[in-house]
Amino acid sequence: MSRHPAAIQSVAVEPRGLAVAWADGRSFTFHPIWLRERAPLEDTLDPRTGQRKLEAAFLPLELSVLAARRRGEASVEVGFSDGAVARFAGAELRRAVAETPQLDLVGDKQLWDASLGGFPRYRLDDAKQEAGLLGLLDDLARLGCVLVEEVPAEKNGILEFMGLIGNIKLTNWGGVEDVRVDANAFDLTLTNRGLEPHVDNPYRSSTIGYVVLHCLENSFEGGESGIVDGFAVAERLRAEDPAAFEALATTPVTFRYQDETTLLENRCPLIGLDDAGAVERVAWSNRTEFADARPPEELALYYRARRRLAELIYSDEMTVRFKLQPGQAFVLDNYRVLHSRQPFELSGGGNRHMRQAYFDRDMVSSRQKVLRRRLAEG
Ligand SMILES: [Fe+2]
Repeated sequence: MSRHPAAIQSVAVEPRGLAVAWADGRSFTFHPIWLRERAPLEDTLDPRTGQRKLEAAFLPLELSVLAARRRGEASVEVGFSDGAVARFAGAELRRAVAETPQLDLVGDKQLWDASLGGFPRYRLDDAKQEAGLLGLLDDLARLGCVLVEEVPAEKNGILEFMGLIGNIKLTNWGGVEDVRVDANAFDLTLTNRGLEPHVDNPYRSSTIGYVVLHCLENSFEGGESGIVDGFAVAERLRAEDPAAFEALATTPVTFRYQDETTLLENRCPLIGLDDAGAVERVAWSNRTEFADARPPEELALYYRARRRLAELIYSDEMTVRFKLQPGQAFVLDNYRVLHSRQPFELSGGGNRHMRQAYFDRDMVSSRQKVLRRRLAEG
């Protein structure tokens, strides 16, 4: 009989804490306070939220584990020197010592280039089912983009879909904002010029997590969209030119947007890495990126590296192109996927009208995790 990898193989009380070994071969010794402060006990944690009620900082520093007993393969009962007795799930303890905790959207990533061709498509009606919405969010975690179809091609037609995930993010641009030619606009988005590949608004410290672009009309000649997997591009750069990758990952630059009523600034490197050195964000916005006045030799390296990254970003080999149709909405991970637009002709009696809105990152990951929990329980 095969055992669950997180089944508890053995437990032992050590002077420094509780030693646990799991069926997958991993073992770890937990500090007594680490266990005690998360004990699932009435006086310690709120059972509904898991929020801590006990002031953990005042637990005795010399607290120890006095006894431990395995309760089947799934849990261990632990007695502490302050008299508390609590039962811990082996799987939860195993998760706590996992190498890569996923705080953001959960799931493995699949890097892609132009050969990907298309994207997972969901109808609005699919997303109204919990299993369908979870499938959509899992694909978003994997690829960084999904297409939603049969969204009403009307002014706020996107809000029903977005409400299935959570609240939209409000910015100085508003909630759901128009993307169409506007002669009075400050931003280059609101013209008919082409837009080079970019992520949205890296000039915010509370930056955009996900972009939802909803097509109401797209009948002008031109105006095709292009998207690039920023993580795939960054990994290509890391493989072929580690020094350039390093320069972009360690040189913070300032992103800035200003108009008559707004001044937004943020600093981050073009390539953001997590604690383990994996790429977690690509911030690319030619319109709003400004390097510091550093010594020329430092900037020479930065500019060389930026050029190489740009060559990859602009290459046909990395770009998937398509033309959004009325009633389609495109969801993009704004930390990962860069988007661009071809210029379009204002003649010929057509029109191009998109509407876009944003989510914070945690709004989306929260929805995915809750759906996973609910569907696993159901
Ligand atoms: Fe954009």
